[in-house]
Amino acid sequence: MSGNGSILVVDDDPNVIEILTECLRSKGYETESAADGDEALAKYDRFQPDLVVLDVALPKKNGFEVCDTIRARDVHRDVPVIMISADSIQESMVRGLRAGAQDYLKKPFSLKEMLVKIDNYLTQASRKKNLREQNLQLEGEVQRGHADYTRVNRELKKKVLDMRSLSGLSQDLNRLRDPDDLIRVFCLTVIGQLGVSSVALFYALDEIDDYLSYAGGSGVSNSVLQSVRLSREIALSKYLLGKHECIKLAEEEFPEDAKREANFLTRFGFDYGYPLVVKSRLIGIVFIGGKVNRQEYISDEIDLFKSICTSAATGLENARLYGELQATYLSTIKVLVSTIEAKDSYTRGHTDRVAEYARMIAEEMRLSKRDLEIVCFGAALHDIGKLGVYENILNKPGELTEKEWDIVRSHPEVGANIIKNMKFLESACDLVRHHHERLDGKGYPDHLKGNEISVGARIVAVADSFDAMTSDRPYRRAYSLEESIDQLKNQSEKFDQEVVAYIEKLVLRGRIRR
Ligand SMILES: [Fe+2]
Ligand SMILES: [Fe+2]
Repeated sequence: MSGNGSILVVDDDPNVIEILTECLRSKGYETESAADGDEALAKYDRFQPDLVVLDVALPKKNGFEVCDTIRARDVHRDVPVIMISADSIQESMVRGLRAGAQDYLKKPFSLKEMLVKIDNYLTQASRKKNLREQNLQLEGEVQRGHADYTRVNRELKKKVLDMRSLSGLSQDLNRLRDPDDLIRVFCLTVIGQLGVSSVALFYALDEIDDYLSYAGGSGVSNSVLQSVRLSREIALSKYLLGKHECIKLAEEEFPEDAKREANFLTRFGFDYGYPLVVKSRLIGIVFIGGKVNRQEYISDEIDLFKSICTSAATGLENARLYGELQATYLSTIKVLVSTIEAKDSYTRGHTDRVAEYARMIAEEMRLSKRDLEIVCFGAALHDIGKLGVYENILNKPGELTEKEWDIVRSHPEVGANIIKNMKFLESACDLVRHHHERLDGKGYPDHLKGNEISVGARIVAVADSFDAMTSDRPYRRAYSLEESIDQLKNQSEKFDQEVVAYIEKLVLRGRIRR
């Protein structure tokens, strides 16, 4: 609205136009005028007035038609129209109001009354306009708020997903005992969660290793990285341990020795490095390339990456400690078993040989890593129950009485009872308990038949008997390897012939020798 407002005066009487125009201008209004219906509409369009004073009796188009057209064209502006007419018929007044006029004044009208009405309508229109603007502004704010809400909601959802995948990952990593499996899950998670183009993990399996070696990755050339080793105490390792941050390799001001290694890694397409630290000790470094979509990482993504790395570091350390613990347990048990063997020169080295044969057979049969581990444990422990058999019975030179045989035959059960409470040996229990079962069900202690006996127990049974056959006994000389294989083949009621075929293969290939 310019000044106090702009007004279009439409009348075919030049005197009316002159008087009204002069009066309105003196009150600060801007004015335009028209003398017929067509001109009125043309001026209306060009001038866009804030109010129209409109005579009814006009040439070309009368006031009602003009008013109708204005209302039809300008639905949103709602410009006030005051109609003037010499016609005082009630009907005419009603028609004007119907056409959308706000008011109707009869000629001759008082200028004072006209000015009061104009002022009132313009004030009302101005208020309406302000309200409309405020309304639009509010709508904008609501929309922006909604957009903000949608964005925050999306970010929250992503965070929840990130957290879920992170807690899932932590659980996975705590469950995995094999560093190779763990590193594979880690790399897949980094690639999947962050859309990373490449990832590589350098790791020192042993606490005393001086170097970090390439342990696994994705989106990289394994064969090239396999020859890369990073010293653990100096250069880039030392720098990253000191910073304990996710570092952009190309932008960091490294000391000279670290810079050489960083440059070397950037040539492989790695952009960032993050140290895996456990109790202030560097156990590995993870390097990642840029994002597949070539966008920069946002800080949330870097935070997520760091969290995944921290979970991996904890998981790797747990796996290492678990491995150490396992090795310690196993060597303790081996010492116990060897004390039994030491008392009997004929069985010396028996457990070690059975464990070795069983491992070779299981590898030949391509058992899973986990099953192979179980077979190795089971074989190493198979006779641990002999700890509970009296020494004098084990070493008795003559025939055993039936009662003494019962005691000897109890060793698989006694052995299983010894290890069943050791959580990580639990899975080997079955092999210890069932290494004297026979396919025909005439074995002991549970008289299992055929497939009721696990593959692991069948492997240990063959390895155990093979070693007994190929060893000297007080009452006979050792059989040759070939004779022993023949004996195993001839006892298909006792031994799984598939397992026998594998051990035969190992003998024929010279992998099992005297
Ligand atoms: Fe045994
Ligand atoms: Fe044995």
